[in-house]
Amino acid sequence: MTRRSVIRGTGHYLPDRVVENQWFEDKVETSDEWIRSRTGIERRHFAADGETTSHMAIHAAKKALERSGFSAEDIDAVIVATSTPDLTFPSVATMVQAGLGLARGFAFDVQAVCAGFIFALANADGMIRSGQAERVLVIGAETFSRILDFEDRATCVLFGDGAGAVVLEAAEGERGILASDLNSDGSYRDILYVDGGVATTGEAGKLRMQGNVLFRHAVEKLAETAHHAVEKAGMTTDQVDWLVPHQANARIISATAQRMHLPMDKVILTVADHGNTSAASIPLALAVADEAGRFSEGDVIVTEAIGGGLSWGAVVLRW
Ligand code: ACO
Repeated sequence: MTRRSVIRGTGHYLPDRVVENQWFEDKVETSDEWIRSRTGIERRHFAADGETTSHMAIHAAKKALERSGFSAEDIDAVIVATSTPDLTFPSVATMVQAGLGLARGFAFDVQAVCAGFIFALANADGMIRSGQAERVLVIGAETFSRILDFEDRATCVLFGDGAGAVVLEAAEGERGILASDLNSDGSYRDILYVDGGVATTGEAGKLRMQGNVLFRHAVEKLAETAHHAVEKAGMTTDQVDWLVPHQANARIISATAQRMHLPMDKVILTVADHGNTSAASIPLALAVADEAGRFSEGDVIVTEAIGGGLSWGAVVLRW
């Protein structure tokens, strides 16, 4: 029998404030029609003043714990994937730990932008399989509204805020994470970055992106990493029941599904209601689909994402 990391519970949190595409029409030269047709996004959630990444992460974590049947004391490690932490340090993960009243184990953040949750999940799986932890809370949480330039129509319409969480537990058997594939190439730094930081401007900065260049990388690299992960799991794409992609753009998602020969009814889509929530997008999509009862025990799920770096990757798991 193989020791694997099984998802025991999922949870999500979205801020109350819903911002429809029309809201941007007064701010920049854009239209609901352009945003919908080019991205599939209809609305997104923005955090309220004072609402932070750790707040959202704690809400999502509590929900995931509740659905898993475990309490905070059962958790050995908390990993938060985020590029929009409350503070430069301490980590959001330690804030979540404190927020859950957990005073044991360890906690740290992972920063791989939109691919952050994939990287965090693969790390958690490694720690579980090596015996370093029995139960790990893996969270993706972002407040991208705080790093958007609301005068740049090419980026401000794309992103939203939110958090998603999963509780992973070690178990012997066929269920759980089967394989992962992680990649980065720092030579693509200028395609997607934030123009500030602690050691440069001393300010958080704003997101900058060459959207059409990134689009081409996304379609090619996401299909490739998904194929690699499926191969590493000893499978072929016709054995895949669900694709849970990073929710950046509906056109990228359908092009990736097509390259994987997967029909769209096997793809979980939340981009219309959430926009691109970076590292939160996959755990949000997983939790929304799980809460809707869309997954059955034994289903093979592929998740994939690409983000700044560039960094990209995929995880294959059996539900
Ligand atoms: N409203 C109206 N027009 C717009 C808008 C807007 N909001 N944004 C851009 N345009 C214009 C451009 O200025 C351009 O006009 P021009 O032809 O007069 O120069 C035209 O629309 C076409 O621009 P493109 O950038 O070529 O449009 P494209 O079809 O590529 O769509 C988009 C842009 C949606 C950004 C797309 O390229 C995309 O989704 N890219 C990938 C984003 C992504 O994957 N991100 C994931 C990682 S994110 C992370 O890690 C944080």
